[in-house]
Amino acid sequence: MSNITKQQVLDGFYFRAATRRYDPLKRVSREDFEYILELARLSPSSVGSEPWKFLVLQNPELRQQLKPVSWGMATQLDDASYLLVILAKKNARYDSDFFRQGLLRRGLNPEQISKTLARYQQFQATDIDVLDSERALFDWTSKQTYIALANMMSGAALIGIDSCPIEGFNYAEVNRILAENGAFDAEEWGVSVMVTFGYRAKAPNAKYRKPIEDVVTWIE
Ligand SMILES: Cc1cc2nc3c(=O)[nH]c(=O)nc-3n(C[C@H](O)[C@H](O)[C@H](O)COP(=O)(O)O)c2cc1C
Repeated sequence: MSNITKQQVLDGFYFRAATRRYDPLKRVSREDFEYILELARLSPSSVGSEPWKFLVLQNPELRQQLKPVSWGMATQLDDASYLLVILAKKNARYDSDFFRQGLLRRGLNPEQISKTLARYQQFQATDIDVLDSERALFDWTSKQTYIALANMMSGAALIGIDSCPIEGFNYAEVNRILAENGAFDAEEWGVSVMVTFGYRAKAPNAKYRKPIEDVVTWIE
């Protein structure tokens, strides 16, 4: 790790910019995109739940179907090398099969599973208070997916690949179109956010950020 300098990482963060137009002649290689997907897979998630799936949406007809309901990526869809739809798990309750399977995969025995699930119950019911609605629970899993989103965009920027995170779409319509086309089971999964990858067609706008003292408070 020590061979990466802070300046190199900062340069990557300055380089990253929400890219609205991609170069149609430059494609991100499959190998580089697999590196980006690996960054998603390695991302942390609350209680190690990994409540995500990543749909690499390359089918041109399906991309066209999304266009009219996705204003936020209308200028990108034709030229993006990759369109990634990030799904979040629905109904990820502590007592769901989803959680039980996760703990089994980690090699816990039945007694350890019961204890862990009891802790998750307390966590979900009281601490983060997400059990009173399906929406709250879905928002909790969606939050985890944004960590993978950020890691992919940062890791892409560090090797000179551009991206744009996408919330600019009609969620109900995108969910419907993808589910109707068999992309996922809408009972189990929902679209959390999307992201495109490619190489920028032109220099981005100047970066605007609030000064550090406006966003950081030190309490000593
Ligand atoms: C979760 C999220 C969703 C976004 N959705 C869109 C979008 O749909 N379309 C778009 O062009 N930009 C989108 N953006 C990009 C932001 O407008 C952009 O990140 C912000 O203006 C800061 O600019 P920068 O990323 O170039 O530094 C989104 C950003 C985030 C983090």
